[in-house]
Amino acid sequence: KYISLIGVPMDLGQNRRGVDMGPSAIRYAGVMDRLEKLNYMIEDLGDIDIPNPGNRPDDKGLKNLDEVSEGNIRLTKVVDETAARGHFPLVLGGDHSIAIGTLAGIAKHAENLGVIWYDAHGDLNTGETSPSGNIHGMPLAVSLGIGNEKLTQIGKYAPKIRPENIVIVGARSLDEGEKKLIKDKGIKVYTMHEVDRLGMTQVMNDTIEYLKERTDQVHLSLDLDGLDPQDAPGVGTPVVGGLSFRESHLAMEMLSEANIITSAEFVEVNPILDEKNKTASVAVDLMGSLFGEKLL
Ligand code: ARG
Ligand code: MN
Ligand code: MN
Ligand code: MN
Repeated sequence: KYISLIGVPMDLGQNRRGVDMGPSAIRYAGVMDRLEKLNYMIEDLGDIDIPNPGNRPDDKGLKNLDEVSEGNIRLTKVVDETAARGHFPLVLGGDHSIAIGTLAGIAKHAENLGVIWYDAHGDLNTGETSPSGNIHGMPLAVSLGIGNEKLTQIGKYAPKIRPENIVIVGARSLDEGEKKLIKDKGIKVYTMHEVDRLGMTQVMNDTIEYLKERTDQVHLSLDLDGLDPQDAPGVGTPVVGGLSFRESHLAMEMLSEANIITSAEFVEVNPILDEKNKTASVAVDLMGSLFGEKLL
């Protein structure tokens, strides 16, 4: 089994500089060694080239639209080629706007792609509903075909996913427009309330069963801000009351046992805001569990 690492030093989808160093921080935390020990063949494809910011006014409420779009077009191509070679694409971010390109590249290779969106946020905004204009708050909407054409038409087809094939886990900060979209489209969401009530074991059992029934491949899009800021402090938009390190480990182990994940990305690691690379280390720990690490 082959895994291809793809670094995406993107920081133009949000306001805090430093998240472009996320891929380096994750490599430094030992991702290669960790996965090689699990008997995978790993190739590191290096980093996608991200354009410099244009210094223009916002385009219809979207910041750095052309640069984010171009970076994602390049990512789409690399993910597409990686999946075509039968490798598991493991994308390292970078801000969450890069999910636009990851999903555009991967969706071509699935009949009915499922997505687990592990995140404090829904990332279901558009230029109209966004409170910030930051594209990292929009990738899930874009992948549903909702939003600016320069983003939805990446890969030259839309939508990439169906609303009923999405499961959001860990949500605790949703904007009004996002709440409306979730209701209108019937998107399945386990907010922190459900995680507290049901426990992560049931949340993951239900998620796995739900996606197994209706999808042929599942992409894991893991935003490190889904975790509590105590466990993952190096993120640009932290929200208190999040998923613990232990709950997240359990989730990854259950996904590994179920053997349903066919591509993944770990995003929003910002070493400038971090404490001694803790957040990148947590990301690598979670990757270890996702790819089958066991204590005994
Ligand atoms: N909902 C807020 C916005 O749209 C925050 C989004 C945070 N997204 C993220 N991937 N961290 O601006
Ligand atoms: Mn930069
Ligand atoms: Mn988030
Ligand atoms: Mn996110």
